[in-house]
Order: sequence, then structure tokens, then C-alpha cells
Amino acid sequence: MTAAQVSAPVVSTEPVGAYQLITLDAPAIASGAEPGQFVAVAVGGPETAMLLRRCFALYTADSATGRIQIVVAEHGPGTGWLVQVRPGSELDLVGPLGRPFTLPDTPGAAVLVAGGYGSAPMFDLARRLRAAGSAVQMVVGAGSAERLFGVDEARVVADSVVVTTDDGSVGVRGLVTDMLPGLLGSPGVSTVYACGPMAMLRAVAGLATSYDLPCQVAVEESMACGIGVCMTCVLPVVGADGRTRMVRSCVEGPVFEADRVRWKDVGTLPGDVVGADAMDLR
Ligand SMILES: Cc1cc2nc3c(=O)[nH]c(=O)nc-3n(C[C@H](O)[C@H](O)[C@H](O)COP(=O)(O)OP(=O)(O)OC[C@H]3O[C@@H](n4cnc5c(N)ncnc54)[C@H](O)[C@@H]3O)c2cc1C
Ligand code: FES
Repeated sequence: MTAAQVSAPVVSTEPVGAYQLITLDAPAIASGAEPGQFVAVAVGGPETAMLLRRCFALYTADSATGRIQIVVAEHGPGTGWLVQVRPGSELDLVGPLGRPFTLPDTPGAAVLVAGGYGSAPMFDLARRLRAAGSAVQMVVGAGSAERLFGVDEARVVADSVVVTTDDGSVGVRGLVTDMLPGLLGSPGVSTVYACGPMAMLRAVAGLATSYDLPCQVAVEESMACGIGVCMTCVLPVVGADGRTRMVRSCVEGPVFEADRVRWKDVGTLPGDVVGADAMDLR
């Protein structure tokens, strides 16, 4: 669906663990949004020097109510401003943006791996997978208990849930990826989905490949425009022709086939990328 720019009233905003859950009235974005898509939010108010929008995955998008929700972790000035907005104020949003997760052609058993606020898009994905006949196992992890998001909801939308924290404050002590060898090797598992920090995605991608499982990841590259104009968000992705291109994660992503991303080269401009000869990189 085409993205819309809207001025969206803030319906509510509440702390949930280490995060702020913000509910907005945005029917033009809610209708037709799919799991894995995101919104770009203007921050700082009309007089601000913060010109760049900040991007957030859609946690919920309900076409019946016209409401959307985002989960915000305070990080720097933009998110610091956003967690302070009050109900009744309005946020300037563009969305839904980017390519969503896709469902498998035939139902199977999906393993969904979520790190920190990266779990936000996974609940709607889990609901859609189950509605299409797939079984869903979720692994939800974070550094510590307050940085977990949505564990209770995971228990509703998934057939089974494993919780991990790095410090062992809740669930199994360790990383989400520590749990994967057992899960991915289980009979019947047919696909893997992941959202979370890039290091986690890289590890999940490697494990999925070693179990010969298709895997989709929602990446989080730094973004500036969010709409495909500035090239801030590029990463090296191998195309169907076997050639690597620097691909914009805001429009060609944020969801990618994990085995197409050249993980060890993310953040660099590889010498064999299409167009390198013109740039004299060889
Ligand atoms: C597709 C996508 C989905 C995201 N979903 C969520 C979410 O659900 N919840 C959440 O809390 N955060 C999410 N983020 C990260 C969020 O966009 C950044 O934390 C935020 O932009 C930081 O802005 P800041 O002003 O607080 O921090 P600063 O570090 O001061 O940001 C400075 C600039 O860098 C960019 N930037 C910094 N960190 C990031 C980052 N990690 N990703 C992208 N751009 C960054 C900002 O856009 C800004 O232009 C997502 C990012 C992307 C790309
Ligand atoms: S953020 Fe500008 S092209 Fe992707």
C-alpha cells in the first residue's frame, strides 16, 4: 500500500518495562499495514533542529479502530523527546514504510526470534502465521527483564515460548541464539523469522543457514529519510543474479532473506559491489 503522511493524535502513552508504548490515531496508516513495516516520525516539534525522522516498527496496526502502536526505547535526543509526548498532542508520521515479512506458501512450523524491542512486529506476524495454518514457536530475549517486551502476549499468540535474558533475571540465562540449535533442529521446523539487533540477526542468519532453513530478518540500519532518497541505510545484498548491490533497507527492506545479506560486510562498501568499477574501488 502507498505510504501516507498524517498528523496523528496521541491517544495514550505508557511505560512498559524499559520502553514507552505509544498509541496513535492514524487510520490511513493502520489500514493495510503489514508486520515488519515501520513508520517515520518527525521529532522535536515545529521549531526543532532535529530535521530527520526517527523510524519505529509497527507493533500493532488495527484497520477497524484506525489505531497504531509503536514501542520506543529511549536512546538519544529524538527518542528522548518522543517518550515525553502527551495524549492529545499530534505526531507527524509517514507510513507504512518498507517491505513486510512474507508468509510461507505452505503452512509449516515457524520459529520467531525476537531481541529487545525487536519483538514489536513479531506478534502480528505470529497471529497471521497461525491464521494461515502454521505452528509458531517464539524465542523472546533481552539483556534483562525490563528490556523484554511482550512475553505475556507471546504466550497467547505462539504455540510455545522460550524467554532468555543475558543476566538471567527472567527465563534462561543467555542469548536468544543459545536456544536455536535445539529448536531449529526439531522435526518439522520449516522457516525462521527474526527482528532485533544486527549482531543477533547475523547470528540467527548463520544458524538458519546451517540448518538449511529459509530465514527472513527485519534489519535496523541507521536511516535518515526513510523513503529511499538519501542512501544512508544501504547494506550489501546478493541478488538473484549472484551479484552484490548496495540496497536501501528503508524501501527494499527492512525485511530481507537472511542468506542474501553479506553480514560480515555490513557497514562497508565491498570492492565487488555492482558499480564498484565506476567508483574506482577495485
Ligand atoms: C526500520 C527500523 C525500525 C525501528 N524500530 C524501532 C522500534 O520499534 N523501537 C525503537 O525504540 N527503535 C526502533 N528503531 C531505532 C530508532 O529509529 C532509533 O533508536 C532512533 O532513530 C534514535 O534516534 P535518537 O534521536 O533518539 O538517537 P540518535 O542516536 O541521536 O539519532 C541520531 C540519528 O541517527 C539515526 N539513528 C540512530 N540510531 C538508529 C538506529 N538504531 N536505527 C535507525 N536510525 C538510527 C536517527 O534516525 C537520527 O537521525 C528502528 C529503526 C529502524 C531503522
Ligand atoms: S533512509 Fe534514506 S534511502 Fe533509506
